[in-house]
Amino acid sequence: MTAKNKLSITTKRLEVRPIKKSDYKNWKEAFSTLGKKKNRWDWENLPVHELDKATFYKRLEKLDQGIKTDTNYRFGVFEKKSGKLIGYTFLMDVSRGIFQNAYLGYQLLNPFWGQGFGEEMVRGVNRLAFSHLKLHRLEAGISPNNRKSIKLAKKVGFRKEGRSKRRLFLNGEWKDFMIYALTSEEFPH
Ligand SMILES: CC(C)(COP(=O)(O)OP(=O)(O)OC[C@H]1O[C@@H](n2cnc3c(N)ncnc32)[C@H](O)[C@@H]1OP(=O)(O)O)[C@@H](O)C(=O)NCCC(=O)NCCS
Repeated sequence: MTAKNKLSITTKRLEVRPIKKSDYKNWKEAFSTLGKKKNRWDWENLPVHELDKATFYKRLEKLDQGIKTDTNYRFGVFEKKSGKLIGYTFLMDVSRGIFQNAYLGYQLLNPFWGQGFGEEMVRGVNRLAFSHLKLHRLEAGISPNNRKSIKLAKKVGFRKEGRSKRRLFLNGEWKDFMIYALTSEEFPH
């Protein structure tokens, strides 16, 4: 795994970095060629009217703002071999001071599931979070029914902290989430 700069990392098969304006075509292609949803957490194609350049640039502005203010990082995940955008990983609601925490999110575009890219991407973003951004703790809140995500979190070393009752309001009700966490001490240096 090599670091290009503070916000970018390459692994064996992937590059994890912020999205840029020049990624527009790649992004449009990615979000117009997704297969049928594979489970309820999966993404589907964006509607055609949201695939234009202006909408993409507006999204980028918001993402850049999150990076500039050190509050929210959303990284694109690119397959090195093809250059394709294959997913996203997020470090959300960064808290500095005595907490040094972020909430981890990840999402692979469904044609790329089942090839170990999830594991590689999360190991990469963990490295960015702990080594480059000097965070101390990452928390992943996962639906108790999201088997694939729980499997992935455990595989990369996240520890189960417990069940957080009625944590998020989703689809009209407060839902429980399983909390998994990793601190820098538990991450191989
Ligand atoms: C969660 C998610 C990223 C997991 O993706 P994934 O492809 O299953 O993740 P992994 O990288 O761990 O891949 C694991 C599979 O690849 C297989 N694999 C194939 N080649 C591999 C390789 N070279 N290296 C490692 N694993 C490989 C593994 O055997 C494993 O198969 P299994 O699931 O049948 O046991 C994906 O399902 C997703 O994006 N879901 C929707 C969004 C979501 O739920 N996000 C999390 C919200 S909390």
